[in-house]
Amino acid sequence: MGFEKREQLYEGKAKKVYATGDPEVVIVSYKDDATAFNGLKKGTITGKGAINNRMTNNLMRRLEAAGVPTHYVQELSDRETAVKKVSIVPLEVIIRNISAGSFAKRYGVSEGILFDTPTIEFSYKNDELGDPLINRYHALALKLATAEELDQIQDYAFRVNDLLRGFLKEIGIDLVDFKLEFGKTSDGTIVLADEISPDTCRLWDETTHEKLDKDRFRRDLGGAEEAYEEVMRRLMGDQ
Ligand code: TMP
Ligand code: ASP
Repeated sequence: MGFEKREQLYEGKAKKVYATGDPEVVIVSYKDDATAFNGLKKGTITGKGAINNRMTNNLMRRLEAAGVPTHYVQELSDRETAVKKVSIVPLEVIIRNISAGSFAKRYGVSEGILFDTPTIEFSYKNDELGDPLINRYHALALKLATAEELDQIQDYAFRVNDLLRGFLKEIGIDLVDFKLEFGKTSDGTIVLADEISPDTCRLWDETTHEKLDKDRFRRDLGGAEEAYEEVMRRLMGDQ
């Protein structure tokens, strides 16, 4: 099953999307470009594109096997993957297990507090507005999704959290928080889309609490490349 790469449809901050000969399938190509703070900070994390591609695919295959529908179709190369063409629901869905980042800042608490129950929040995906935080009723008012779709998205997001926490615990990593995006296929089915990588998750070593994610770049901690490689090594072994 081959997918011919045709014209570029879109270029985002971390990925490019290309058409294929199949109207239901597109190719995503992961870049090494890194941005933070809505694109204000720019840089490169060498090797990140290949790691994020392979890590996302590994996790999406495992989520799919556990009953969460995803956009994943086929890994084509180190950096490129065929995925179902979807229209992205313009919401960033953020799940948190441990306080960090904007949660710690907004509510004036320290990082590292383990919650009794995971939290969910939504941001409106809109770069000009800086992805503002919104609630379910705002999302309905803005017609970003229907009530049924929001219920489905929330249900999948918590299931993804349970599954990912388990996968990552096996390799000595605590899943602090992460961001998901969902898409709608041509028949209206909601599927998990975008990526699951150290760009979109906070990943802390369970014993040393060392940050193994994009916070190394956001906060100028150094060692971003090594952190991404470490997560990849633990997740994939010698594959
Ligand atoms: P936050 O603490 O900055 O709100 O981030 C929560 C999680 O969402 C964290 O794992 C990083 C991820 N994230 C993205 O993937 N993209 C974004 O644009 C933002 C702001 C956060
Ligand atoms: N990738 C996002 C941006 O460039 C934010 C982030 O991950 O911190 O704004």
